[in-house]
Amino acid sequence: MSEVVRLERHDVVAVVTINSPPVNALSAAVRGGILECVKDAVAVSGVKAIVLTCAGRTFIAGADITEFGKPPKPPGLSEVLLEMENSPKPIVAAIHGTALGGGLEVALACHFRVATRDAKLGLPEVKLGLLPGAGGTQRLPRAVGPELAVRMIVGGDPISAADALKNGLIEEIVEGPAAGGEAFARKVLAEKRPLRKLRDDDSKLAAAKADRSIFTNAVAAMTRRARGLEAPFAAAAAVGAAIDLPFDDGLKKEREGFLKLVASDQSKAQRYAFFSEREAAKISGVPDGTKPRKVERVAIIGAGTMGGGIAMSFANAGIPVTLIETGEEQLKRGMGVMQRNYDASAARGGIPADAPAKRMGLINGVVGLENVKEADLVIEAVFETMAVKKEVFTALDKFAKPGAVLASNTSYLNIDEIAEATLRPQDVLGMHFFSPANVMKLCEIVRADKTAPDVLTTAVSVARKIAKVPAVVGVCDGFVGNRMLAQRGKQAEKLLFEGALPQQVDAVVTRFGMPMGPFAMGDLAGLDIGWRSRKDRGIKSEIADALCEAGRFGQKTGKGYYRYEGGSRSPLPDPEVEKLIDEMLQRLGRNRRAVSDEEILERMIYPMINEGARILEEKIAARPSDIDVIWLYGYGWPIYRGGPMYHADIIGLKHIAERLSFYARETNDPSLEPASLLKRLAAEGKTFASLAQTAKAA
Ligand code: 3HC
Ligand code: NAI
Repeated sequence: MSEVVRLERHDVVAVVTINSPPVNALSAAVRGGILECVKDAVAVSGVKAIVLTCAGRTFIAGADITEFGKPPKPPGLSEVLLEMENSPKPIVAAIHGTALGGGLEVALACHFRVATRDAKLGLPEVKLGLLPGAGGTQRLPRAVGPELAVRMIVGGDPISAADALKNGLIEEIVEGPAAGGEAFARKVLAEKRPLRKLRDDDSKLAAAKADRSIFTNAVAAMTRRARGLEAPFAAAAAVGAAIDLPFDDGLKKEREGFLKLVASDQSKAQRYAFFSEREAAKISGVPDGTKPRKVERVAIIGAGTMGGGIAMSFANAGIPVTLIETGEEQLKRGMGVMQRNYDASAARGGIPADAPAKRMGLINGVVGLENVKEADLVIEAVFETMAVKKEVFTALDKFAKPGAVLASNTSYLNIDEIAEATLRPQDVLGMHFFSPANVMKLCEIVRADKTAPDVLTTAVSVARKIAKVPAVVGVCDGFVGNRMLAQRGKQAEKLLFEGALPQQVDAVVTRFGMPMGPFAMGDLAGLDIGWRSRKDRGIKSEIADALCEAGRFGQKTGKGYYRYEGGSRSPLPDPEVEKLIDEMLQRLGRNRRAVSDEEILERMIYPMINEGARILEEKIAARPSDIDVIWLYGYGWPIYRGGPMYHADIIGLKHIAERLSFYARETNDPSLEPASLLKRLAAEGKTFASLAQTAKAA
């Protein structure tokens, strides 16, 4: 008898229950257990119907991702599904939680499906650089039609039980999975319903067979943002095979596509990203079993760009927030921005029509810091000046209740110093969100010297609750992300002095897969901010300064490193900028040289990796994978390249160290000399990943 799958008989109904925590993934043991139990149930006379259900928090959440890349262990999932679909007795899948990937494919091989109201059903394989490999691309279009199937398979987002019911993916919504499944099975028997095998039912494919544009339009819509990715296109091709070919031939095509993707570099990187994200939520150096503090009420200080976005993230998760400003006018402006933001999303169809009112209803805007009294967590997002931060934290110390977690959203300032403004530095830490805060998923959790362990776990758990990806970092200028970004910015600027143009640098960076290059990003953020800060510090950057002196502050003035026409956000190369650069170089007595794209790419990426190595040396980040998570979710690093540290391992650390030394010499820039950790790993022929393994083993 299987340890993870059990068979129970309730007179004519056999119940097969999978119990393999945490998410009932389809490991070899689970596959074997299902096969054995289904065969047994079919063999027992007197059993007339079978219910397949799961114990614990969810229905099967997919194939066991840890098995990919290892030698396959029998039985294969397809074999199990064939046995189920060919069962002469009806099988009902009773779903709760999430039926994802291979999990939904198991359900699709059953003859009937029911689900609880809060269940979600989806084929998210594409997010791991894969396509559904056990019939999902062939059975789902037959269940719901090719249009929705494309949305689910090529887009990867799950649908609700209500949508599943509406589209024929499930037969009924039930209260509890096991009891509901059993009741439904009895109904099937009582009504003598015929077995429904999706493989034999082409009715929902007819429209797309007659008019293929139904399919191609759906694919075009779903792949619009899939630049650089292989899996969405392969997944779409597999759904196309469901329309064009008989079931078994389609299945063969799907298998070929799956095997190709599972061995691809992109999928390996995406699977790495999946596990890195989960690893990042584990805080090193915190005693096991440290429980987060209870967070029911949240206050946010400052209703500006960041405070507003953070408040929206809480409201989006259904958590009420008190948003605090210095005056009615500032408050009104901040509330107005959020309202317009929500209204625009609703108009685009991104959120339901009644969501703006509901979500704004969760944000209580008030004036005066004394309003933090009830909050279990306070997040400060006021101006980036140490004096203002200290003033706010001194007031928080006075008004916040004992045990409240006090977080700052500062981008660069020293959290230890901010914490010292209070008599409770153990309750203080950084929660560094990224702009736009209601969209970007990263939250750098900054651990200060005295931050208590349960304050850290609280911040991590709250971040996850509002659908952010937390990564714990230490205190330093710019923390992990911005500190590495500064190295890229420095090189980007230097490249202009050597002869490259903004559009050339940006094109190399976007071709690599980043959403934006450094100059377009500068135009978006506003060039005047850096200009003012350079003036304060008595620093010069001749080209950037000259642009600002000419009133070119970026997108907000319609001109920066690029020009922008009629309020558009698309950067257009500007001959005036080229002229300005030429003149500046002449004045400085420099000659423009042709800079190759290869050099640009190396100088954009390797110095960041080098800074990442220093960050690891200084233990500002605990794991290379945490740095990767920060770049994936805070800066749009292409997921199919895993993150900068993963990418470095793929390229080879020896090569990177050599190139950095070369550029240090050639450009007379000692900051490009390889970090000692990078040098050591390169000399030993090791990878950054080897560090993670050693740390775990220790
Ligand atoms: N395989 C192996 N481990 C898995 C897993 C899977 N499919 N899904 C989740 N886990 C592990 C996680 O790594 C984590 O382990 P840890 O505690 O050691 O870090 C643990 O289960 C809990 O996961 P989460 O922290 O993510 O828990 P949540 O409750 O936040 O989310 C979930 C649950 C929505 C199921 C989420 O884990 C998830 O999205 N899982 C992946 C689903 C997926 O992609 N399925 C498709 C797999 S590919 C496939 O099925 C191919 C098939 O077509 C042949
Ligand atoms: P902002 O200028 O848009 O908003 C700051 C708001 O704080 C203003 O509305 C102001 O009225 C309010 N405020 C000032 N003092 C206050 C007080 N004592 N009590 C209540 N409210 C007060 O600034 P932004 O861009 O939102 O930045 C806020 C913080 O977030 C800064 O520390 C910044 O470095 C950080 N940050 C900014 C990012 C960005 O891209 N803008 C990204 C990540 C962090």
